[in-house]
Amino acid sequence: MMDSTFRQQSRSETVGREKEQRLLRQLLFAVEQQGGSNHEVDGLMTYIVPHGIFLTGDAGIGKTRLAHVISREAKSRRWSVIWNRGNAQESNTAYQLWVNVLQTAFTQDIWQPQEMGQQHYLSPSFRNLLPDLTDLLPPNASHSTLEQVPLHIWESIRTALIFISEKTPLLIALDDIHRADIQSYDCLGYLLSHLNGFPLFIIGTYRKHEVTSSHPLSSIVVQLQRQHAIETLHLHPLTTGQIEALISSTPDMPPLTNPRLQQILADAAGNPFFAKELTWSQTSTLPRTIATFFDSLLGELSNECQQLLRNASVLGDSFELPVICLMTYERSIVADDDPLLDALDEALRHGILVESGSRNHITYHFRYPLLIKHLYKKIPIARRIRLHKRAVEALR
Ligand SMILES: Nc1ncnc2c1ncn2[C@@H]1O[C@H](COP(=O)(O)OP(=O)(O)O)[C@@H](O)[C@H]1O
Ligand SMILES: [Mg+2]
Repeated sequence: MMDSTFRQQSRSETVGREKEQRLLRQLLFAVEQQGGSNHEVDGLMTYIVPHGIFLTGDAGIGKTRLAHVISREAKSRRWSVIWNRGNAQESNTAYQLWVNVLQTAFTQDIWQPQEMGQQHYLSPSFRNLLPDLTDLLPPNASHSTLEQVPLHIWESIRTALIFISEKTPLLIALDDIHRADIQSYDCLGYLLSHLNGFPLFIIGTYRKHEVTSSHPLSSIVVQLQRQHAIETLHLHPLTTGQIEALISSTPDMPPLTNPRLQQILADAAGNPFFAKELTWSQTSTLPRTIATFFDSLLGELSNECQQLLRNASVLGDSFELPVICLMTYERSIVADDDPLLDALDEALRHGILVESGSRNHITYHFRYPLLIKHLYKKIPIARRIRLHKRAVEALR
């Protein structure tokens, strides 16, 4: 996920994820063989071959890695592959995702726009998206007054991509699409439900907790799922055994004592990015890359929620509502509209806390063990002492 780990990507073995790789391969095959057209069985049943998959999961869990593995395989089967990475700075520029895809296709010589003819209709608004290439695009007489409608842009993007896929099957990998612009999402939704019969496949990756129900991508994913136009694959943490295998199979890893290895396995909690960074760091302080990641995670939370998490870090891995309430207010009863409940909800929504138990007895757990230490370190010492005192009282 970050540069230092990315460096090693191609040199180390991919651990686990066999089931996921199998599914991805199957989908790619199906699209390659039938162009993914509707498939008839006994002239009765038909099914749609999905032309896309979304890989979801936490940061560092291995989404990009898996997309790379499949891209390499597609390349070896003579697919053209276009990679695009979501960029927070570009999330306000309309259609940036697709502009980047097409520009990359042009730069990599996968797309020769000059070979397109008049039969490939490209709307004027589409041409405006690619000013550098206007001279190469086929001339179009523009008549329609409807050409500003997004549909014309989507259809033009589809035309260009299909044109590319006519030469060789085309795989488009859109990494970290939780950061794209709304117009790009709408176009993605349109494309994925209008690719049937063409050898074109899209892999998107995004962080699950970034795409909450209010995120513009969320409704598109739901709609595509309903149409069976995509698959979604959630990447779960690796097992302890897999993390151990990952550490030992990565080249240049420093030797580890057994207690240190056990500590890393516990701290990584199945996350390959954490495991690699911890192994490389060789000190007991939190590696900068992980600290930066946590800070960006916390930066998206309200002050109340951050405060709650800092307080809770004094209690260790998990805590219960009356206890955190006592620590916060020195009383254990929570009102229905208590801001503390909002803060807890917020932490749950962002996937920082996980709840378990029943209505009367809920326990909240930190999902990243390392975050507890990171939060704890941020509490000024005087306050830390006070919080410990309150925690002892609350737990009595
Ligand atoms: N199954 C795996 N086997 C080996 N290394 C992995 C595996 N999954 C992830 N990694 C490595 O862990 C790091 C984080 O993975 P990455 O794919 O960048 O995560 P994400 O895209 O989900 O944030 C990378 O260095 C990656 O190569
Ligand atoms: Mg990634």
